[in-house]
Amino acid sequence: MSPDQYNSIVVLTGAGISAESGLKTFRGKDGLWEGERPEEIATPQAYAQNPEKVLRFYNERRRLLLEGGIKPNPAHVALAEFEKNFTGNFTLVTQNVDNLHEQAGSKNIVHMHGELTKVRCTEKGDVYECLEDITLDSPHPNHPEIVGTLRPHIVWFGEVPFDLDIILEKLATCDLFISIGTSGLVYPAAGFVQAVPETCYKVQINLDYTPNLPHFDLVIDGKAGEKVPQFFLNRLPHESI
Ligand code: OAD
Repeated sequence: MSPDQYNSIVVLTGAGISAESGLKTFRGKDGLWEGERPEEIATPQAYAQNPEKVLRFYNERRRLLLEGGIKPNPAHVALAEFEKNFTGNFTLVTQNVDNLHEQAGSKNIVHMHGELTKVRCTEKGDVYECLEDITLDSPHPNHPEIVGTLRPHIVWFGEVPFDLDIILEKLATCDLFISIGTSGLVYPAAGFVQAVPETCYKVQINLDYTPNLPHFDLVIDGKAGEKVPQFFLNRLPHESI
């Protein structure tokens, strides 16, 4: 059955979908966590102990995303194009903090791990778009007298992902679930494949083996930039841009 014959689709994406755009994945050779201890960067404790290091990490990633010539690849484009023409319910849940799905034109996106282009005030809890570096001297955008309270609007290990209630509701009623470019190692996202109805058709598109692979009905090995346009649009990737 082709994807447009389903009623309610949930797509889960991870760092692998942005790899062909030039953004590093987390794990494996040359990954962002290679030679780093994630707990020294992506935790509230790391931020409390060494905020400069944590801010530097996210500033570098924001700068690369905004100034490094990073563009959506055929996988992002195919998802956006499919969503535009699909008449059913379509939810794109991403663990990625980049904005490549938005740039490609996707609409119904849930950023469960936050967004690189947003910051949050740790005192007031309000969230702002931010396209620049943040430092310990950065003033609050609306309250210049408050300084040094902005943190990346990113979910760190030990924190609760955003919009889990919306995600679980969509998972509970979907009839097609597709996981793309994620290692299946980080929960709760790794368990989403088990949160869908028994009758839901479950597809994985990924380069490497994942531990949650036995839960999928169809496993497509390969690069997202090739396989996603084929799966969603029945097209070769170069035809989708
Ligand atoms: P990972 O780096 O753990 O996994 C990326 C997956 O993408 C791997 O399984 C690769 O085989 C696959 N991959 C790489 N290139 C690909 C390509 N061109 N096409 C298809 N697949 C490809 O990244 P995530 O699973 O997204 O969380 O990581 C999950 C979370 O762990 C992240 O959101 C982040 C991280 O720590 C936080 O920072 C809280």
